[in-house]
Amino acid sequence: MRLSDCHNIDDFRRLAKQRLPWPVFDYIDGAADDELTKARNTAAFGQCDLVPDVLAGVDTIDTSITVLGRKSALPLILSPTALQRVFHWQGERAVARAAEKFGLWFGISSLATISIEDVGAMVSTPKMFQFYYHKDRGLNRSMIERCQAARFDAIALTVDTIVSGKRERCARSGFTSPPRFTPSSALSYAIKPRWALDYLFREKFSLPNLDTHVSAGTGEAVSIAGYFNSMLDQSLDWKMAQQLREDWGGTFCLKGVMSVADARRAVEIGADAIMISNHGGRQLDGSRAPFDQLREIVDAVGGRIEIICDGGVRRGSHVLKALSAGATAASGGRLYLYALAAAGQPGVERAIALLKDEIERGMKLMGVTRVDQLSPERLRWR
Ligand SMILES: Cc1cc2nc3c(=O)[nH]c(=O)nc-3n(C[C@H](O)[C@H](O)[C@H](O)COP(=O)(O)O)c2cc1C
Repeated sequence: MRLSDCHNIDDFRRLAKQRLPWPVFDYIDGAADDELTKARNTAAFGQCDLVPDVLAGVDTIDTSITVLGRKSALPLILSPTALQRVFHWQGERAVARAAEKFGLWFGISSLATISIEDVGAMVSTPKMFQFYYHKDRGLNRSMIERCQAARFDAIALTVDTIVSGKRERCARSGFTSPPRFTPSSALSYAIKPRWALDYLFREKFSLPNLDTHVSAGTGEAVSIAGYFNSMLDQSLDWKMAQQLREDWGGTFCLKGVMSVADARRAVEIGADAIMISNHGGRQLDGSRAPFDQLREIVDAVGGRIEIICDGGVRRGSHVLKALSAGATAASGGRLYLYALAAAGQPGVERAIALLKDEIERGMKLMGVTRVDQLSPERLRWR
């Protein structure tokens, strides 16, 4: 299977599986417990249908939106994800450059393998920093100050990872950051020599936004669950979130809001946006899908805060459904991560191009020329 054989996100997933050592693939593909929520995140989009209008004159259409104060060429955001250099040696650089090429928002994780400064210098398109609230207050301050200096466009505080989800595939494989070559994992790396050579001989793995303050994850190999459970501040509450927003002083988003009550509180603390998200099913298994939860949140706070529907998106039609149900934008991680793992920057570009094509075709077949014409009227629930 080659890159040119990839015609949808699932194809990239299969190619990624071929190319990655299984502990790395399972870190990307896996989720918590029984992975019910991960499956539901995508299945939820199948519970409703689009109702097209015809004869609408769709020779020119505009797929752009404005979200978090900046324009995006598509109503799609590339969500922040950790450790990208482990998936492909080009890591975050590939994703940043692909996002820039298509005029999209993208995010880097606190656990990014590229520095805030490098991202700031590299791309002009809108960028978000995903903030994990650490016990180490000096580290929190340093991340904020570095994002300010590098002129990041927004910070997203992740609020669904107060402890790590129970990611059983990672527990079985012993996946760590940085990846450890132990006798038991050696085979998985040995049978993917191309990945192993890239990992060993290209730019050295590091977590440059954390390693100024903590050695876990860089100098010291730890499981991701171990990192979250020991480093993140479980006392995080609304007051601390509000204080972080004030310290940052720029566009502020809460990532991982699921309830109507919390969406209302996000408005109260002055957040600009919420990402309705369950972290791609990697945290609380059995929690509701973002798309299922979207309508009640739109009813409660729509128009007062931007609402991003995060997770499960694998098709352009999923984006159109999220927008029809009232989201400002849709976002996702695996939709570009499989492609990154499969083929680096050309992979990510191909994945975005496929989704762009599906969004454009879908809008034309729906008979809309602008995304704001997508409304609840265009959806029917089974
Ligand atoms: C491999 C991987 C790593 C992730 N790392 C982070 C992270 O560091 N911080 C964060 O807030 N979310 C992280 N996420 C969650 C994504 O931002 C996003 O919420 C999720 O991928 C959405 O689900 P989807 O993969 O079905 O699109 C990660 C997701 C994946 C798959």
